[in-house]
Amino acid sequence: MSTNRERVAVFPGSFDPLTNGHVDIILRGARLFDRIVVAILRNAEKSPLFTPEERVDTVRDVFQDNPNVEVESFEGLLVDYAGQKQASVIVRGLRAVSDFEFELQMALMNRRLGPAIETVFMMPAEQYTYVSSRLIKEVFALGGPITGLVPEVVEVRLREKRAQNRV
Ligand code: PNS
Repeated sequence: MSTNRERVAVFPGSFDPLTNGHVDIILRGARLFDRIVVAILRNAEKSPLFTPEERVDTVRDVFQDNPNVEVESFEGLLVDYAGQKQASVIVRGLRAVSDFEFELQMALMNRRLGPAIETVFMMPAEQYTYVSSRLIKEVFALGGPITGLVPEVVEVRLREKRAQNRV
């Protein structure tokens, strides 16, 4: 049965930093759903390069002209956050077979925790299938080129971190 309710998706992740692979998935999600909420995890165990506030600012900057893309940070269980946002879908990107095992575990755990929320996987454009935040940080730290793999603003902010001797 169809309703007039708007279809909201959350796209959760660490986004440390945002890559063009993430951007590709967010744009696909923004075409598919009425609203997509980019949900940046606050309490990552790993010590992030960018603070949650810096990451929120960066993603907002990139999507400032996309009115149905919302950006927030969250902590706690993803399904609880999705419930607060009245989201019925969790979007995750799938790059290669190597992503599948962890993604399957998360999707099934999230289904157990929140049966009303469906996980939807989307493949990024081929040119981003090997791009990850971890590799971006590694290549940048070692002086390699990352142009074209991250939004320009991310490159600028990485250079700022370098100037502060943080990378
Ligand atoms: O970009 P990442 O690091 O792959 O994102 C992982 C993320 C944020 C999606 C995952 O760690 C998460 O949802 N954390 C919130 C806590 C939670 O709900 N854990 C149970 C999920 S199975």
